[in-house]
Amino acid sequence: MALSTGSNKIKTAIFISGTGSNLKSLIKFSELKKSPIIIKMIISNNSKAKGLKYSKIYKIKKKVFDFKNSLSEKKVINELKENNIDLICLAGFMKILSKSFINNFKGKILNIHPSLLPKYKGLNTHEKAIKNNDKYSGCTVHFVNSKLDSGRIINQKKVRIKKLDTPKTLAKRVLMQEHKLYPAAIMKILSL
Ligand code: GAR
Repeated sequence: MALSTGSNKIKTAIFISGTGSNLKSLIKFSELKKSPIIIKMIISNNSKAKGLKYSKIYKIKKKVFDFKNSLSEKKVINELKENNIDLICLAGFMKILSKSFINNFKGKILNIHPSLLPKYKGLNTHEKAIKNNDKYSGCTVHFVNSKLDSGRIINQKKVRIKKLDTPKTLAKRVLMQEHKLYPAAIMKILSL
């Protein structure tokens, strides 16, 4: 994909389920002149997601869908197509998308995951890294394919695990790196 400027920016939707700190960092990134994306929509499966507050703060359209069945996913697909969305960033989105949904946006869905993939797909990644006495945890941005946390890796950042780390303290340090890694991944795939 070529780097777009001005009104040619890539229309992007961010999917969230919770706090939305990655969403906030992506919004901040999208406001930079050099950013190739413009965030058009925030989508959530959880009407109580804290991150939905950024819709009001930054005046970005938000929509909540339950994602419980194919009919609900169809509605999401329609919404995304009506808004000419060309890039989807999963940012703490805790639902697994169906094959059919992913096929509708082939190569256009990204995810950030709190581990050094292919290690620790799924949940409780930091807990697993600490239990296994790993030296490092970290985060990965990857393309989404039909297998969980298995699509092509775009970039990764290692974070050293300290002796006294708990999953919570480690998650906090990794999250700070996620906020840099996601914009860098987008620059990487959308720049020439
Ligand atoms: C982030 O650590 C993200 O990597 C993780 O959820 C957190 C969301 O934080 N995502 C997953 O575990 C996806 N499997 P945020 O809501 O503050 O961005």
